Amino acid sequence: MCKSCGMIYTASNPEDELQHVQHHHRFLEGIKYPGWKKERVVAEFWDGKIVLVLPHDPSYAIKKVEDVQELVDSELGFQQVVPRCPDKTKTFLFISDEKKVVGCLIAEPIKQAFRVLSEPTGAESPSSKECHRAWQCSNVPVPAVCGISRIWVFRLKRRKRIARRLVDTLRNRFMFGCFLSIDEIAFSDPTPDGKLFATKYCNT
Ligand code: ACO
Ligand code: ZN
Repeated sequence: MCKSCGMIYTASNPEDELQHVQHHHRFLEGIKYPGWKKERVVAEFWDGKIVLVLPHDPSYAIKKVEDVQELVDSELGFQQVVPRCPDKTKTFLFISDEKKVVGCLIAEPIKQAFRVLSEPTGAESPSSKECHRAWQCSNVPVPAVCGISRIWVFRLKRRKRIARRLVDTLRNRFMFGCFLSIDEIAFSDPTPDGKLFATKYCNT
């Protein structure tokens, strides 16, 4: 396992080594975003902007999203997850002033979600961060509109409200002409970081 980027690979396998070099670089340096002529800027801030990418966008945009998703998934330890309806997936990229992709949110339409049940020990208990994804969900579905399948911020840019701004922008842009309420959005299988963020964002 590489001590800097965390990737597990076989050092004697050239294919594995190449993959590692790529991941290592992206993990430490981030992913560059040179800028596109026809980009869909959906929000602008003092420290960057948010660009929306849709499934039928030009291949350079799709390729960029795939690169980001690859980095995010390997950081999250996800296996290749095929989105349920790739035709309706919306990807929001937060681009920093240094022209790097420093945040990513991937959302898809859903019909229902399941509430996380509060832990008997309390969310503040010191063990809650260690018991990785061990929380329980209610088995009673509640209606929902938008599922966040991934949310990620570059490790050096965390706690600067980038995730918060991505979700605000998603709520504004997911459905034409309406601002989604917090009850209408859901997070898929959150990580400990994801759960801390979602708890704070949703005030639950
Ligand atoms: N610990 C405690 N509270 C947190 C944390 C954390 N790690 N992250 C966010 N919060 C809370 C804080 O209250 C924060 O406000 P504050 O800084 O004023 O106290 C508030 O949420 C807003 O946080 P942001 O700054 O908007 O969040 P950030 O940009 O740092 O991104 C994220 C949060 C996306 C979870 C980031 O930590 C990350 O990328 N982690 C690794 C990837 C990951 O685990 N993603 C979630 C996967 S689950 C899913 O994709 C559905
Ligand atoms: Zn490495």
